[in-house]
Formats: sequence, C-alpha cells, structure tokens
Amino acid sequence: VQTAAPLIPESPTYDKLRKAASGCQACPLWKTGTQTVFGEPAGRPHPGPRVMLVGEQPGDQEDRAGKPFVGPSGRLLDEALEAAGIDRSQVYVTNTVKHFKWTGEGKRRIHAKPNTTEIRACLPWLEAEIRVFRPDVIVCLGATAAQALLGKDFRVTQSRGRPMPSDQAQVVVATVHPSSILRAPDPEAREAQLAAFIDDLRVVARLIH
Ligand code: URA
Ligand code: SF4
Repeated sequence: VQTAAPLIPESPTYDKLRKAASGCQACPLWKTGTQTVFGEPAGRPHPGPRVMLVGEQPGDQEDRAGKPFVGPSGRLLDEALEAAGIDRSQVYVTNTVKHFKWTGEGKRRIHAKPNTTEIRACLPWLEAEIRVFRPDVIVCLGATAAQALLGKDFRVTQSRGRPMPSDQAQVVVATVHPSSILRAPDPEAREAQLAAFIDDLRVVARLIH
C-alpha cells in the first residue's frame, strides 16, 4: 500500500512539510479534494503551539478555503475553546486526512468517511507535524483521530476527557468531534453535548496552565 512516507522531507520544518504535502498523491483522495488542507498554527510567527487539535478530514468549506476548521464545525470548536479558556494562539489545528472525501453530484457534496487505507496513507503527514511541533498535548477530535493515534480499539465514548500517556506528546486526550454536536437531535441534547465537550477541553486547559 502506498503511503505519504517517501514524501516527508529530511529534517522537516513546518514550511517544508506544507509545501511537500501540497503535491501529495499518495492515495486517491487528491482527486476528490480541491487541494491539500494542511494543519495551521493560529498565528504566525508562533512560539510553538502547546496543543495540537486533530480532526478527521477537511469538510466542504475547508476544501474550498484550504484551511482546517473554518466551517460550521470550526465555529463550534472556537466557541468551545473559548469557553474552556484555551487561547487560540496556543493551538495548532490539523486533520488525520488532508484531502476532502465526498460523494454526490454537482454542487451538493456529501462528506464521506475516509477508510483505513486512506488514513494509513496520510498518517505520515500527521506524524511529521507532531515531530516538528512537539506539542505538550494532542487532542483527538472524534474516533478517526483517536484510533489513528491511540489504536483501533480505542473507544472515545469510554475514555473521553482522560489524559492518556503517549510517546508522541506528553499526553493525548480524546473527545468527540464537534460535527457530532451539530448533528444532535434537539437543542437540549446539543446543549448537553456541548457542555460535555467543553468539560473535556477544560481537562486540556488544566494540563497547559
Ligand atoms: N471536520 C474536520 O474533522 N476537520 C475540519 O477541518 C473540518 C471539519
Ligand atoms: Fe496525500 Fe493525504 Fe491527500 Fe491522500 S489524503 S493524497 S495521503 S495528502
């Protein structure tokens, strides 16, 4: 199986990685996505983010903008980070898979889940981002990121909000994906899920303050 591993530059920097990833064709998703959506530090120049947030893959708006978490999930994420007391300048935001996978026709593009082959193909980019930034805390947003970094048996529902030891960062904390909150069946459920998400992010806030 082809992976992005041969494309990782020697002694990578953020700029070198980003440039190399922009031409990646290691899995078929480069054809469905408009462009590679690489991770982004909140503000540049940056001293080095202490927290790395890892989502699943770019969505429709991220695919068009070329930036992670700028659509509805991103707005909810920003709201939750602020409520948890995490400054965006301390955060690097990225995804497990860097191209948008979708089905449908014409303008209506429906998000499709990346499969294990695609996730494995793309993982060298995330691993290189982690090596370059050495974040204190990695936050997995949803099962795709959690299973990519913590193993396929990891269950977000069972272990969310709990700092897990890791050789990639001091700790990894998994929580739900903000898009799952947007899909809540009614306003009460949405509010409860948002509160639980903010609680998980408060665990992260305590780890870095
Ligand atoms: N969902 C993700 O997982 N990542 C994004 O960048 C946007 C939505
Ligand atoms: Fe490369 Fe990842 Fe895009 Fe696949 S999804 S082409 S591995 S950057």
